[in-house]
Amino acid sequence: MLIDRRELIGLAGALLPLSARASGSPDAGLHGLAGGRKFGSAVAWSEAGADRGSFANPRYDRLLRTDCNLLVAENEMKWQALRPAPDRFDFARADAIAGWAYRHGVAMRGHTLLWHQPKWMPAWEERFDFGTRPASRGAAMLTQHVETVCRRYPQIESWDVVNEAVAPDDGSLYATALSRAIGSAEETIDLAFRTARAAAPGAQLVYNDYMSWEPRNAGHRGGVLKLLEGFRRRGVPVDALGVQSHLVTQGADAAGAARTQARDWRDFLDAVTAMDYALVITELDVRDDHLPADPALRDRATADYVRAYLDVMLDYRQLGDILVWGMCDRYSWLDGFMPRRDGAKRRPCPYDADFQPKPMRAAIADALRSAAPRPA
Ligand code: XIL
Repeated sequence: MLIDRRELIGLAGALLPLSARASGSPDAGLHGLAGGRKFGSAVAWSEAGADRGSFANPRYDRLLRTDCNLLVAENEMKWQALRPAPDRFDFARADAIAGWAYRHGVAMRGHTLLWHQPKWMPAWEERFDFGTRPASRGAAMLTQHVETVCRRYPQIESWDVVNEAVAPDDGSLYATALSRAIGSAEETIDLAFRTARAAAPGAQLVYNDYMSWEPRNAGHRGGVLKLLEGFRRRGVPVDALGVQSHLVTQGADAAGAARTQARDWRDFLDAVTAMDYALVITELDVRDDHLPADPALRDRATADYVRAYLDVMLDYRQLGDILVWGMCDRYSWLDGFMPRRDGAKRRPCPYDADFQPKPMRAAIADALRSAAPRPA
């Protein structure tokens, strides 16, 4: 580990926000405009100097220091990264990210203690032999994982305890080998939250998912509401809904799309906040679909769409921190996972592939400037 654990424990909470010292920025940095919230981004791990969206890439590091006082590891705190084998943890890459954040006075979110889908668990877990007492073996495995990871990073103020447990088509909960061993998805998810509360008593505990405001998300939103209601009924310690915010443009008329979509979306957010959940924007980016390849046109529509979305979100006093899923188009996961049909490179992030600010960055800055400051 790069930093001394005791040092971290002692200093957790005393982190100073960054000033906009990394310059080039036309304003105080997005974090400086966020009015009592933090602004942050996902960050990858890489070897020093690699052309990756990593803290170890000086060009990416510069963007982080310009705009962010909060970071989240894009992959390195997931089971697939931390658990090469059932009896082993590997914290090297996650520690390197946490070390960078610490040295720069940047806070961290944790993502994620349980990505509750078979395809996002390590292959060994889906094949694991839970033996003759699977419920207790499964519970022990999950408890050990959550306790070990939470205790390793006591500086983390907010954890995505459970990620994407709800199947978007029918709102049901996924099953994994682990949840079948434990007994049910609900028991597994509840156990993850209860264990996290005990192991990280000061942290905000978040259920994180990608239900969004676009059409065809109603089933997903319904499933998430049902899960959140269940938490309250069963007394499970969940503090906030992580609204991932992987947005999808619906065409050039961003304002029109926003008007159409805002009503159902507000109904959803009203229901969530009425159950006393806070909101966090955990993974904002934009899939520039239903738009021609022309970059200027896509950037305009994307920026307008983000602005309209953030205006709705910032209307909720329950909205806390805001994070984008990557600062710059060059490294976005979307080109690999959901490429554009015409093969044009996607433009999902605040900065373009040459690290220049785009209209989306200005839209975020304007939305933050216009928002009421967060009540203390
Ligand atoms: C993605 C990463 O960006 C990719 O690099 C990785 O291969 C797969 O996961 N929702 C989440 C994130 O909660 O963890 C996902 O990140 C994006 C969607």
